[in-house]
Amino acid sequence: MLSKLLSITAVIGLTVTATIAQDTAPYFPNNWTWKNASIYPPLFDSTGAWAKAPTNTSLVQEWMKLVNWTGVPNATINKLDANGNLIDPYANAANPYCDWSFDGVCTRPADVVNCPQKGVWGLTFDDGPTAAGAALYDYLASIKQKASLFYIGLMVAQYPQNAKRACDDGHHISIHTWSHQVLTTLTNIEIVAELKYTEMIIKEVCGVTPRYFRPPTGDIDDRVRYIAAQLGYTPIMWDLDTNDWTNGEPGGVTAAQEDANFTIWTSAAQLANDTHGHITLQHELTNFTVNEAIKNIPILKKVYNVMPVASCIGETHPYLENIVYPVIQPNGSVAVPANATNSTTSSIPPVAPTTANVGSASAAVAAESIVPTASSAAYSVGSSADRSVVVSAALGVVVGVIALLANTL
Ligand SMILES: *[C@@H]1O[C@H](CO)[C@@H](O)[C@H](O)[C@H]1NC(C)=O
Ligand SMILES: *[C@@H]1O[C@H](CO)[C@@H](O)[C@H](O)[C@H]1NC(C)=O
Ligand SMILES: *[C@@H]1O[C@H](CO)[C@@H](O)[C@H](O)[C@H]1NC(C)=O
Ligand SMILES: *[C@@H]1O[C@H](CO)[C@@H](O)[C@H](O)[C@H]1NC(C)=O
Ligand SMILES: *[C@@H]1O[C@H](CO)[C@@H](O)[C@H](O)[C@H]1NC(C)=O
Ligand SMILES: *[C@@H]1O[C@H](CO)[C@@H](O)[C@H](O)[C@H]1NC(C)=O
Ligand SMILES: *[C@@H]1O[C@H](CO)[C@@H](O)[C@H](O)[C@H]1NC(C)=O
Ligand SMILES: *[C@@H]1O[C@H](CO)[C@@H](O)[C@H](O)[C@H]1NC(C)=O
Ligand SMILES: *[C@@H]1O[C@H](CO)[C@@H](O)[C@H](O)[C@H]1NC(C)=O
Ligand SMILES: *[C@@H]1O[C@H](CO)[C@@H](O)[C@H](O)[C@H]1NC(C)=O
Ligand SMILES: *[C@@H]1O[C@H](CO)[C@@H](O)[C@H](O)[C@H]1NC(C)=O
Ligand SMILES: [Zn+2]
Repeated sequence: MLSKLLSITAVIGLTVTATIAQDTAPYFPNNWTWKNASIYPPLFDSTGAWAKAPTNTSLVQEWMKLVNWTGVPNATINKLDANGNLIDPYANAANPYCDWSFDGVCTRPADVVNCPQKGVWGLTFDDGPTAAGAALYDYLASIKQKASLFYIGLMVAQYPQNAKRACDDGHHISIHTWSHQVLTTLTNIEIVAELKYTEMIIKEVCGVTPRYFRPPTGDIDDRVRYIAAQLGYTPIMWDLDTNDWTNGEPGGVTAAQEDANFTIWTSAAQLANDTHGHITLQHELTNFTVNEAIKNIPILKKVYNVMPVASCIGETHPYLENIVYPVIQPNGSVAVPANATNSTTSSIPPVAPTTANVGSASAAVAAESIVPTASSAAYSVGSSADRSVVVSAALGVVVGVIALLANTL
């Protein structure tokens, strides 16, 4: 069995290498009908490591034209040391381009860092779609819970069934780059390629164009912010970190520690002290991260109104397409606001014809239709190692018509 290694650098400069379950993953599964598989970049380089999105394609040349380069901040392109740690080029704790990696504090007003309403919890999972994530999706579906999922493009290429299933389940899908690069170390064109290839593959598999992204390792500065904003993306960060991905590494978090943190975060003292809600960093990487989520979500739900980040920030249009997403109301219920419109606030038009339609919203029920698909009569969720869940989808009918009941997000 071949295991690929995913190197992740934490915000504070700790480097840990975590294995990611892609041993059984096929390269662009040939039972998934790709419209044009040849337009996607290779997933791995000659050493078997994840390959950066290429910059020498005509697609990237077109995408470069979407950005007004006159205004791009002239931030230093950062470097990694031999251990993969980000090197801070500035002395004396200077942080002229507001790089979150250097202090975990500096943000700009457009960055989403928490849920504004006290008592609200923005549930997020990074690095999918994965084989391990299928059990998480099953669990979330069983309790009618939606989350924000930050997808890696080359993982969507390997687990398109899982991605499609999550979209159909009504989760809020956002971009987490093509190959999980530390973005401040990339050139401008590399940043464009990493974001746009991911947007393209999510659009192909799910029919939606995300307007939000999360920088891998939380690494973002004003140059990355500017390029992302020009492409129409808003960054979603976090204010509470489970460190779940470090489990199994030297000094990594244990289940007891992660549980203890959830106990603190759900304590009366925490709630009494809070002036806003929270966004946590969690992952669908491994059975550990998934099992910890499944264990702790019921505890969270006893004291927080748990929802995707789009809902907690009042974002009715997390995609370019005409899909109206339910958001939290002043009275705490979650519903499509009566005044929701189909217009988007993005500065760029959809890159491809819209294939998704908005659902009708009644007083209590918001329905979303995500792309009728004729791809297959049944598709399996999970890799060949995880075939337990099969979702049936009748040919020619609208799949992914989901009912998002008020208060059940
Ligand atoms: C697939 O993409 C390639 C590269 O962009 C293009 O040359 C080719 O015409 C496309 N094929 C189809 C069927 O769209
Ligand atoms: C882009 O660069 C890669 C790596 O150098 C090369 O393999 C590929 O053929 C190039 N593609 C184009 C379209 O020039
Ligand atoms: C590009 O940005 C500059 C300022 O950074 C502005 O002066 C210029 O009008 C912009 N160009 C376009 C085409 O929007
Ligand atoms: C950007 O920074 C580089 C090196 O720090 C410098 O050489 C260059 O002149 C700067 N460009 C602008 C437009 O300020
Ligand atoms: C919370 O998790 C951190 C690691 O993220 C750990 O260092 C800390 O000990 C945990 N807190 C408790 C009370 O166990
Ligand atoms: C309440 O918040 C203040 C300021 O953020 C902090 O200093 C204090 O430790 C917090 N108390 C509790 C019980 O969390
Ligand atoms: C993870 O969980 C799945 C489903 O329970 C199981 O089939 C698989 O063997 C587990 N993987 C590991 C590495 O424990
Ligand atoms: C909360 O407000 C929404 C409209 O904003 C309304 O539809 C819903 O019935 C209200 N729920 C409660 C429990 O008052
Ligand atoms: C809808 O109404 C809410 C307050 O009820 C307001 O905050 C929001 O901006 C309105 N949205 C639109 C698109 O008018
Ligand atoms: C949104 O667009 C759909 C058609 O795409 C239309 O049926 C619906 O009435 C629109 N909703 C609003 C609130 O404008
Ligand atoms: C498609 O391939 C995946 C991965 O090999 C497999 O799990 C799934 O069962 C296949 N689906 C169908 C419908 O053959
Ligand atoms: Zn990540």
